[in-house]
Amino acid sequence: MALQLKTFENTDELYNFAAQFLQQKVKDGAKTFGLATGGTMQPLYQVLRQSDVDFSGCTSFNLDEYIGLPIEHPESYFTYMQKELFEHKPFSKSYLPNGLAEDIDAEVAHYNELLAQNPIDVQLLGVGENGHIGFNEPGTPFSEKVHAVTLTESTREANARFFNSIDEVPEKAITMGIANILEAKEILLIAVGEKKRAALESLVHGEVTVDSPITVLQQHGNVVVLTDLNISLA
Ligand code: F6R
Repeated sequence: MALQLKTFENTDELYNFAAQFLQQKVKDGAKTFGLATGGTMQPLYQVLRQSDVDFSGCTSFNLDEYIGLPIEHPESYFTYMQKELFEHKPFSKSYLPNGLAEDIDAEVAHYNELLAQNPIDVQLLGVGENGHIGFNEPGTPFSEKVHAVTLTESTREANARFFNSIDEVPEKAITMGIANILEAKEILLIAVGEKKRAALESLVHGEVTVDSPITVLQQHGNVVVLTDLNISLA
């Protein structure tokens, strides 16, 4: 399996490496980037904001967006991306699923169509404590493309830290499916902190199973994993 695991002593080094990795991809001609949100990506976007990276010739597609959260809500992924990256380092065009679409099925089809027309060169991924990638929760068939999901309680609890209370965390989201993620030419996955150990262990040592969606990355030919966790490859 073509999985490269890079372990860092500290997260500053990890995020500097990740930012340089992306900058190099731009220089090498990558045009389409798949982006992620969440706590893991904030330090990366901070490094990118302060760098001289130029995404103005590139297009971005985010993995996911909550359904029903007003766009101006600070925790909508639209607003997160504006604040963390796009206001500072704009892409020529940036797409996220529209979680406020009146017809969610039509929006799902539309986002799938956009992805089909714009193959992703480099996909950035975080991972949930339960092994989810994007919002593909355990049990999601690997064949799924963009779809609407009901978030698990554990994911809503994990994300409640960004809201005033868990009641405010939306119950649904639109996410790229695992089939879309696997179509990316290259994947850069970042897993930081003890809470991600079980998920990362399952990728490195586990069997490929829908019970831990991250394990599907064993079937992708070009994945770089950056972590501050000591996981032996043996
Ligand atoms: C975010 C996303 C999620 C997160 C995951 C980890 O766009 O798709 O899969 O990457 O939930 O979240 P954090 O980084 O907050 O631990």
